[in-house]
Amino acid sequence: MASKIITTRDGSRSVFSNRFQQHYHNIAGALTESRNVFFDNTGLSKALAEHRDITLVEVGFGTGLHVALLECMRKRTGSRSQVHYYSVEKFPLEGDVVRRMDFGRICPGMDEVVGRIADALFEARDGESVSVTITPDKPAVAEKGLPDVENTAGTPFTRVEVFRSDFHDWDLSVLNRPAQIILHDAFSPDTNPDLWTVATFRKLLEAADPHAMLGTYCSATRARAAMILGGWHIGRVQGPPGKREVSVASPDAAMLSAFKRVNEELLMKRFREELS
Ligand SMILES: C[S@@+](CC[C@H](N)C(=O)[O-])C[C@H]1O[C@@H](n2cnc3c(N)ncnc32)[C@H](O)[C@@H]1O
Repeated sequence: MASKIITTRDGSRSVFSNRFQQHYHNIAGALTESRNVFFDNTGLSKALAEHRDITLVEVGFGTGLHVALLECMRKRTGSRSQVHYYSVEKFPLEGDVVRRMDFGRICPGMDEVVGRIADALFEARDGESVSVTITPDKPAVAEKGLPDVENTAGTPFTRVEVFRSDFHDWDLSVLNRPAQIILHDAFSPDTNPDLWTVATFRKLLEAADPHAMLGTYCSATRARAAMILGGWHIGRVQGPPGKREVSVASPDAAMLSAFKRVNEELLMKRFREELS
């Protein structure tokens, strides 16, 4: 069955997943939600604007929207950050579907760059990685395998590496260093429960910097309990259009001082038996 592309209320596009019976993004505004939840709440926007180098892990590459948005933010801020972007995808979309997301409107050229990543990922076998280095002045080429980034001193770049497999089979020891930013962008806990388990958040914690920030659009009590039991502290944030509240998390409670908090003790007590 052909994947149905829709235009969300802020004019950006999303796609409906026939497998999960859910849209990939918030229909009240795909781009608006991504910017709020994954870029602003986690501090990624600020890190780019301050030219800090970033290691980022994404759960669920999907359409590749966040790669396009990252390059848009890089252009807007003139960021010189060196970004290592690691992602995982179990059910890759075809490049043609990704091209119909029209990422060129978000950042010129990104429809083709992300389209090429999607082509290579779709062709890849389970357990293989696809990697691309995007630099402001050099076209990106999608390759299989893990080539090193050459001659990188001072050069801004985004190195995207997407692992084609189940998240739980992903060897996160490949990261160049512990992740400072985590984009947890699975489908909702009721349709994609395997990505909202305590084991999921423990695995992410093991790959994370002690001061890492994790963003998710989810505010469900049970999902928050899984994060807490997985070793994360939770902050509550006002959601983008269509969502009352979303969550941000860190292994370091001090990183959440600007946010309202949840009663972690209570959630742990309530869910410990059910979730362990
Ligand atoms: C809500 S979509 C979002 C994707 C993406 N961040 C975007 O903006 O398009 C969630 C993605 O997670 C993928 N996924 C679901 N379960 C997975 C698993 N166990 N391992 C790896 N990827 C998974 C889905 O195929 C889907 O592409």
